[in-house]
Amino acid sequence: MIIAVDGPAASGKGTLARRLASHYGFAYLDTGALYRAVARDVRAANRNLRDEAAAEEAARNLDAETLKDPFLRDRGVGEAASIVARFPMVREALRDYQRSFARRKPGAVLDGRDIGTVVCPDADVKLYVTAGLEERARRRFHELRAKNFEVTRAEILEQIRKRDERDKGRDASPLTRAPDAYLLDTTDLDIEAAFKSAVELIDEIIDS
Ligand code: CDP
Repeated sequence: MIIAVDGPAASGKGTLARRLASHYGFAYLDTGALYRAVARDVRAANRNLRDEAAAEEAARNLDAETLKDPFLRDRGVGEAASIVARFPMVREALRDYQRSFARRKPGAVLDGRDIGTVVCPDADVKLYVTAGLEERARRRFHELRAKNFEVTRAEILEQIRKRDERDKGRDASPLTRAPDAYLLDTTDLDIEAAFKSAVELIDEIIDS
């Protein structure tokens, strides 16, 4: 069983996907961490994020053991990830790993931007999780402040807006809702309510 969770930055998809995986006893993959790790490795090699060959090389040599590196959630890394994520060769290099992860038994939950559209178009359940821009900026602001980063709300809002634009506007696997994805708008839902509504939907699909 494969559950695909896609959506824009700071929409709550990661928290939701992680909870769903633990509820159903499925494996969980944060695919954003792959792109974040590629950006980290390009920088560590003193190469430019806009250098496609350097990004492809980092993607091909990515060590999955480093995906839990807390640095990946640091300020600015999401932005860097969206720069390397535009390159088709980077996406291709990461695809097989994601697809083989998705085949794990008894099931897997993957969250990202193109899981329901490109990585696992045959996923059993597809969720497109979104929330208003202001609310997403508020959540990311609190997440970063909790880690003691000096950020302003206005700065975060602008970063998220730009990143969404880049993710939606790119040619390779742009962020878009799959036609068969269930839309979950979490603007007015806390994580508990979002989780409940996703479980109801998934249980219905499992029982049908
Ligand atoms: O947690 P947040 O929503 O801020 O970001 P993320 O899911 O960690 O993704 C970081 C960046 O990686 C995104 O802005 C995308 O550019 C890229 N990404 C992607 O292109 N495809 C995916 N399946 C996952 C992430």
